[in-house]
Amino acid sequence: MIITQNPNAILDTIIEKQTYSSLYLLSDSNTYTKCMPVIADSVKKYNIQTLTITAGENTKNIDTCIHLWEQLNEKMADRHSLLINLGGGMITDIGGFIASTFKRGMSFINIPTSMLAMIDASIGGKNGINFGSYKNQIGVINEPMEVIVSPIFLKTLDRRNYLSGYAEALKHGLIGGKDAYKVTIPFISPSYERDDFTSFLQKNISIKEKIVAIDPTEKADRKALNIGHTIGHALESLSHNKNEVMLHGEAVAWGMIAELKLAELVFGKKPEILPEIESFIAEHYQQPPMNENDFNELLSIMKQDKKNYKSEINFTLLKEAGQYKINQTATENQIIESLKYICKLCKS
Ligand code: GLY
Repeated sequence: MIITQNPNAILDTIIEKQTYSSLYLLSDSNTYTKCMPVIADSVKKYNIQTLTITAGENTKNIDTCIHLWEQLNEKMADRHSLLINLGGGMITDIGGFIASTFKRGMSFINIPTSMLAMIDASIGGKNGINFGSYKNQIGVINEPMEVIVSPIFLKTLDRRNYLSGYAEALKHGLIGGKDAYKVTIPFISPSYERDDFTSFLQKNISIKEKIVAIDPTEKADRKALNIGHTIGHALESLSHNKNEVMLHGEAVAWGMIAELKLAELVFGKKPEILPEIESFIAEHYQQPPMNENDFNELLSIMKQDKKNYKSEINFTLLKEAGQYKINQTATENQIIESLKYICKLCKS
């Protein structure tokens, strides 16, 4: 992973290091307009052919893959071609997947343009698409050849989307320990061009990179990255069912509070960090569209979670900042108590 204020120059270096039979740029309708101009010099200089798909998570499906594989065929792509994925998590997920499967695999690099993709989605090689109504059900783990992170793309993001990605940075901070968590706090307001923002991104992303290096296929340690995600995914799905859509990171932020409460119930000791993080999230993040009548639906969504083993809902719980326990289970009553806890916070 390279962090730079000049993604165009880094892209040139990568392209010139090796001989590719052809070059392709995958973007969506938003990133083509807002982000492609930043690398337009390279696109022109190296005759990079563009593939553009509709923006939005609904595009991340098998029909779009078929369309893209057909395009690559028509444009004579082969195993020695390079695909450059320019966009948020939707683009890096589907782009990594089509590149990994086309003719059994061509090289790809990611240029993430959202905070969520920079901090999380473009790092660690998880690629894939949604299937039926479930997210990321079909995919592969295959690392990109390089990830070019440039804070300058964050200027194209609105505050809500910035905060969504920032929730994953908070999660990395909590995994890294109390000091790593504290370092994260000032960056609730982005300062894209400052050097300390670059070093914040570098340190925060390296927390994930170290975990992925130990356990790329999520047998054990990588499950640390699932903190807040079991209840978070359920809140996200519920919000879609209710047509009051929460962004992924917003749901994860509230999921982290609920799962810190759950940790207190399961381990019998309140994590010291809980009061601080709950007031921080309640202050900055929009509340989930939930009430007590939704608890059964939330539980049944959690029972479908792809992290479960033998039908038991699986959590990664934080005992304290820096101390996590993977493969934790909880009783339905404990889960409901945790949901009640965030419901109360939403009312206050
Ligand atoms: N987003 C969690 C992971 O990459 O494992």
